Amino acid sequence: MNSKSNIVLIGFMGSGKTSIGKRLSVRMKWEFIDMDDFIEKREGMSVTEIFEKKGEPYFRNIENELCERFSEAKCKIIATGGGVIKSEDNVKYLKQGGVIIYLKSKPETIAHNLRNDNTRPLLMCNDKLGRIRELLAQREPVYNRCADITIDVSQLNMEDTLNKIAEEYVKYENKRNKRTKH
Ligand code: S3P
Repeated sequence: MNSKSNIVLIGFMGSGKTSIGKRLSVRMKWEFIDMDDFIEKREGMSVTEIFEKKGEPYFRNIENELCERFSEAKCKIIATGGGVIKSEDNVKYLKQGGVIIYLKSKPETIAHNLRNDNTRPLLMCNDKLGRIRELLAQREPVYNRCADITIDVSQLNMEDTLNKIAEEYVKYENKRNKRTKH
């Protein structure tokens, strides 16, 4: 990784990766890539349809291919799907290509954000909050381990989130530059 490497947003479904990523890309004047969106366009199907017709492993393979491809990219803001960290390979590629920012959120906030959503195949069940808790408990340690920067977005509005990301990113880059000089 070097300067102008990507900013990669990770975190659970409904934590705001796409909406935050879009605004961050305007602020930084870096191109925005939403991995789910990219996959949907390429396959000509929604994520739900891909899961239904081709199965989750098919989706995960494309996700893996994209992580490898974007490990070479520069100056991109990349919003990943919440399950991208399930593969160590993906984590390796994403880390190679950029700074990983974990948008951390509480199960209750996530459930609230997704209360009217029916586009997440893994949350199609009666007890959405229970499912979110269960999946988050499995994934949280991995998100924490992968993250270069963690931002707790549960209590923050959009503007504060963007300011916090900018602030933490500058701190992180300064530290990294100091380390590489010595
Ligand atoms: C998934 C998250 C989704 C999407 C797919 C699987 C996951 O992306 O990739 O439904 O395993 O957490 P978002 O995090 O953008 O909702």
